[in-house]
Amino acid sequence: MTGKITFTMIKPSAFSAGYTGNILAKIEEGGYKIVALKKVKLSKEQAGHFYEMHKERPFYGELTDFMSSGPIVAAVLEKENAVESFRKFIGATDPAKAEEGTIRKLYGKNLGENAIHGSDSDESAEREAGFFFSFLETV
Ligand code: RTP
Ligand code: MG
Repeated sequence: MTGKITFTMIKPSAFSAGYTGNILAKIEEGGYKIVALKKVKLSKEQAGHFYEMHKERPFYGELTDFMSSGPIVAAVLEKENAVESFRKFIGATDPAKAEEGTIRKLYGKNLGENAIHGSDSDESAEREAGFFFSFLETV
């Protein structure tokens, strides 16, 4: 399915604010098919594994604290050119710089609490989907 799937998470701030339903509706309206879906609470260690590529970055501690601060909703989405189109669809990392109508513009608070994650490559999408879901959960 290379090129057709991406992985997303509704981040703790957006989940706790009650935006999950609206965000999932917007994702479906955007033409993304939900292939797998679940709510989970990550431990700090699990969040650390998920974001291990950012280990040396100054925001790693803050990021993993935040991502383990409450439940998240994880999903695998399917659409043509899923990774690139979904990153455009959710908007810039910093909600203040995100285009009008994007999920981060609508539901993000700041650079850290930016509502939603989107994979940055096909390889990341496969890795991230596999981190959260077994094969049986994606059929
Ligand atoms: P994401 O992985 O969450 O979809 O976001 P992204 O690709 O747009 O951004 P990335 O560079 O992968 O960073 C991951 C998350 O870390 C937080 N961040 N904080 N304080 C900072 O300078 C900083 N930079 C990034 C953001 O919450 C970002 O989503
Ligand atoms: Mg990223």
